[in-house]
Amino acid sequence: MIKLGYVKEDGYFKETFYLNTNFLTRHICIFGTTGSGKSTTLSIIAYELNKLGIPVIIFDRTGEYTSRLKKWSYTIIPGYNYYASPFGIWHDLEIEERVQNEIWLLNEYCRITWNEQLSPLQIRLLTESLLNIYRRGHNPNFDNIVKECRKIIEHELKIWYESAEAIASRFQIFTVGKFKKAFLDISNSKPKLISNLRGINILDLSVFENDEPKNMLSLIAATSIYLEIKRAGFSKKVRLVLAIDEAQNLINKNEKYSILEKMSMELRKYGLSLILVSPRPSNLSENILSNCGTFISHQILSSYDIDMIKKHAYSTNFKYSLENVLYSLNCGEAFIRTLDELEGRIIKIGTEEHESIIH
Ligand SMILES: Nc1ncnc2c1ncn2[C@@H]1O[C@H](COP(=O)(O)OP(=O)(O)OP(=O)(O)O)[C@@H](O)[C@H]1O
Ligand SMILES: [Mg+2]
Repeated sequence: MIKLGYVKEDGYFKETFYLNTNFLTRHICIFGTTGSGKSTTLSIIAYELNKLGIPVIIFDRTGEYTSRLKKWSYTIIPGYNYYASPFGIWHDLEIEERVQNEIWLLNEYCRITWNEQLSPLQIRLLTESLLNIYRRGHNPNFDNIVKECRKIIEHELKIWYESAEAIASRFQIFTVGKFKKAFLDISNSKPKLISNLRGINILDLSVFENDEPKNMLSLIAATSIYLEIKRAGFSKKVRLVLAIDEAQNLINKNEKYSILEKMSMELRKYGLSLILVSPRPSNLSENILSNCGTFISHQILSSYDIDMIKKHAYSTNFKYSLENVLYSLNCGEAFIRTLDELEGRIIKIGTEEHESIIH
């Protein structure tokens, strides 16, 4: 059981509240307006999971978790102790299939970052470039792909000029400085993300200032985890809790079967538990919300978002008054609806034991 805080009833804090670990693989969503206590709640859950010996990875875009969980965590820093190339994930496949998957990932990156797909011409040019590089026996990276695209249009297909420049402008950022280093495939020194994983692991994305590299790195890491968990086979016990703060950045609502959606739908039997943190439920997809068993909602001010919670987190206790409840929660308080307590409760998150994490 995960000790999370105290039940608030009639204005008083009564019994201790626990989350049941049996429902971890039915996934958890944490919502709430800015400053309402989401990241603190996730930190407390991570701390409690660590006590139970369940490994956790947190994708941390703002770099706040290392100081909160310093004593109990290990920090993974892209470009220092973690290298993630989108071209190093499917090395066990035939070249053609490998290229297809790699382009899927690049396309996914464009969708979540710009809400745009690669055009059919861009896909063709990228495919040609990747195949050329592999056929020469080299490993692709963003630098040689951009060069190869330009070479193809110079020598062969001048009408693809615009596509090559579009590819260059999308991916050029990954060909310089610390970005280049973080996205290189340094196979020998690349730690596997989940085998032998213990404790709380914080993937610190704050080394990048912009959203683009944060998105790219999160996608690569999530895809690697997805494949590794599947390869490890079915598991009754929880193998890993993957917690993603600011998860709305990795989701394009209009797109079906994004990587987080696939994880939430397919990986329960493989022992993966997802914890997704987002200010607004409406920023996550319907599929993710309907595959979520535990809703933790801090204060929400938008009636549109309150309606989403009502729709997906049916609560017998607060069926008619959820608006008032969610609207008037104090910082650090949350409405929690779990699968074993469908009535829903108001919880003051944190106990004396969690004080050093909260402040
Ligand atoms: N459970 C709690 N008990 C007491 N204080 C809390 C609690 N949770 C949060 N706070 C206070 O509120 C502040 C903001 O919390 P937190 O960073 O967790 O919010 P957030 O919802 O993640 O915000 P953001 O939208 O900026 O990510 C904390 O620094 C802390 O002072
Ligand atoms: Mg936060």
